[in-house]
Amino acid sequence: MRLFIAAARESGLTIGLVPTMGALHEGHGALMRCAREETDYVVATIFVNPTQFDRPEDFQKYPRNIETDLAFCDRLGVDAVLAPSAKEMYPGEVLTSVEVAGISSRLEGEFRPGHFRGVATVVAKLFNIVTADRAYFGEKDAQQLAVIQKMVADLNLPVTIVTVPTVREADGLAMSSRNQRLTPEDRRNAPALYQALCEAERLIRNGSRSAPEVRQGALTLLLRNPVIRIEYLEVVDSATFQPVEMVTGDVRIAAAVWLGDVRLIDNVFVRGA
Ligand code: PAJ
Repeated sequence: MRLFIAAARESGLTIGLVPTMGALHEGHGALMRCAREETDYVVATIFVNPTQFDRPEDFQKYPRNIETDLAFCDRLGVDAVLAPSAKEMYPGEVLTSVEVAGISSRLEGEFRPGHFRGVATVVAKLFNIVTADRAYFGEKDAQQLAVIQKMVADLNLPVTIVTVPTVREADGLAMSSRNQRLTPEDRRNAPALYQALCEAERLIRNGSRSAPEVRQGALTLLLRNPVIRIEYLEVVDSATFQPVEMVTGDVRIAAAVWLGDVRLIDNVFVRGA
């Protein structure tokens, strides 16, 4: 990888990085298209990072298809793909990790202990390997994006983080590698998650400033669908991910739900009054 990067730099090219865990879909595609447009040499990484999984079963069942993924990258004009094995990424005992305090302990961090430490550490490693000018992340994982932005700021990492809006299916379901594990019935019910977030957004736009009221409105809609188990649905400050009582500034409504043994997350951003 370093040889490829050195050659690209030698030719004066800028480097764009798109980190992924594979099972690529149009959400990843949007990141790659942005990188392709804004940088000269696009590197995608495909690595199902074991250290960010809190449940061994989720790691085992995570969809993997390297041949299809490589063809996908090829179609989108990606210049190089780094797809290391776990042994290559973690050859021995790991004693060093990156922990972004505060923001990592809420929502996703609360329900997936250690998750963001795993994410921040592997992303820091990928930044050091690829040394990109710009790295592309999806708003679909808004909290992950906030964790990475804080890490980059706090550690002076020489990379610009670019945010790409969430890509959705026609019925509103956010694209995700985990969607392919949904049963046909659960797939039919899955759009209710985004509908509930849109309901919360609608309530704020219609003048509601009470976070509990907004939250309740969304929950009521979601609870109509008994097969969906709600892990959390919160109105949080868009920068800190701390819960708010009153919607006075920019907020994010973020939720995680279970359909069968598949966990889905989604969020919407709402500009404050
Ligand atoms: P993964 O879930 O494969 O996602 C890779 C990138 O694609 C992330 O930045 C994610 O936010 C973005 N993405 C996924 N679905 C999207 C959608 N529907 N619309 C827009 N962007 C979408 O996130 C990870 O992998 C890992 O945690 C990683 C950052 C690679 C570290 O291991």
